[in-house]
Amino acid sequence: MRIRVTTRDLSVLKVDLAVCFAAEGDRRPRGLADAAVLRSLGNRMKSEGFRGRAGDRLIWNPDGGAGPGRYLIVGLGKHPGAPGEALRRATLAATRDAADFIAGRIAIGLPEISGQSTLECARAVIEGARAGAYQFDRHLTDDSRRRTPVTALTLAVPEATAGAARKAVRHGEITSDATDLARDLVNEAPSRLTPSVFARQATKVARASGLQCKVLAQADLRRLGMSALLEVSRGTRQPPRVVHLKYVPKGRARRQRIVLVGKGVTFDSGGLNLKPGDSMTYMKADMAGAAAVLAAMSALRDAGCRAEVHGLLGLVENLTGGDAYKPGDILDTYAGKTVEVGNTDAEGRLVLCDLLAWAAAKLKPTAMVDVATLTGACVVALGPAASGLFTRHDEMRDALAAAAAASGEKLWPMPMYEEYLQLLQKGPADLCNIGGRWGGAITAALFLGEFVPRELPWAHLDIAGPAFNDTEFGGMPGAATGAAAPTLIRWLESV
Ligand code: BES
Ligand code: MN
Ligand code: ZN
Repeated sequence: MRIRVTTRDLSVLKVDLAVCFAAEGDRRPRGLADAAVLRSLGNRMKSEGFRGRAGDRLIWNPDGGAGPGRYLIVGLGKHPGAPGEALRRATLAATRDAADFIAGRIAIGLPEISGQSTLECARAVIEGARAGAYQFDRHLTDDSRRRTPVTALTLAVPEATAGAARKAVRHGEITSDATDLARDLVNEAPSRLTPSVFARQATKVARASGLQCKVLAQADLRRLGMSALLEVSRGTRQPPRVVHLKYVPKGRARRQRIVLVGKGVTFDSGGLNLKPGDSMTYMKADMAGAAAVLAAMSALRDAGCRAEVHGLLGLVENLTGGDAYKPGDILDTYAGKTVEVGNTDAEGRLVLCDLLAWAAAKLKPTAMVDVATLTGACVVALGPAASGLFTRHDEMRDALAAAAAASGEKLWPMPMYEEYLQLLQKGPADLCNIGGRWGGAITAALFLGEFVPRELPWAHLDIAGPAFNDTEFGGMPGAATGAAAPTLIRWLESV
């Protein structure tokens, strides 16, 4: 999708579809200035009883004229002030509608929203439009099942805001490119994205985005002592990989060294504690944390991040082969702690614990964040739209929550009650990898916390809910969403 900014009025643009917006109570749409067209659109809103509720849409076909072939008014709801969310959703819906109208060239009139900057509004519009236009169609051989792609998008803005709008477009495109990458990886079939294929992809992405990249194979991992990660991988013939990406900012002195760790289980069958069929359906998405980390890393140079950032992808497949690890096994870990396997389906924490401990010891970060589709319990707690944010550091909590809010992602603070640690301290080893029935997202986070030094600011994002939608829930189309990539990029832009 080619995106450009214009200061000409929406009503004079020669496009297939012109998109403008109206909030509840608006009598005319926002985002264009031509008095005659505004009047026509206002009349149409009135005669159709259009109320501007979130999700409402209204089409107007002007007869003739040199401007747009069609107008689409999208409702913003009651309080479009919430950071970028209403606008992002509305543009997402608009670009999805564009496909139905076979509109390849569209224009969007940037609406003014009180309390929000042009920069934020324009970025929300671009990110929403790109998210709506995304499709995973590489395996379709029948073109009729493909949606009409939006090939050109013109953002119409008032003269005074053109500079800010151009900057917003650039950042919106950088974030969207990254998010699309994460979505492509998560949507890909598990047989086509094994740990070694994922690692090769990461190498390519690194080359294209100015990152250093090292791929660790099984022998390297054995030498390093990443025993827990290797145990998870025993039930499959696919060899595991750990990818170590490194971004070094140009020029400026680096004050911070940040480590991102992603869970990359390319397929999670549950292992010998086999998942029931329905629960296994979308387990190709169990590498969404690693996808988000790779995606965020790919954006850092262009986004102008000023910190040194490392990305670690823990890539394994969790299957049931003859040599699979078993309930009751006692594992060694990189950190030296022993772990009893209570359930082979709690594999994510075993992959992450070695990477977290290794990164803390060897990379000496100033802050560390891990991203993982870690627990079904987090989905039970927060529902499918929100990720859980676990940290003992108030500053990390505030910074990540702010980055998520600005990105239109839902990230909700969860507790790390110390006393629940006892739930993991049972049996013959230092820790058990399951904590019992209740508070599963919290005990998982506490487990990880045992492998991170207390003084290191660390946060854990459980993205099990939003990483993958099995329906078209909340306007985000079915399948992969790229969850956490936008938030990580925002956060890393600001550090
Ligand atoms: N990958 C799953 C978590 C998951 C569940 C992600 C649903 C996305 C949607 C994870 O490895 C897992 O299986 N967790 C278990 C942990 C339990 C055995 C303690 C779970 O959530 O049931
Ligand atoms: Mn599992
Ligand atoms: Zn898993």
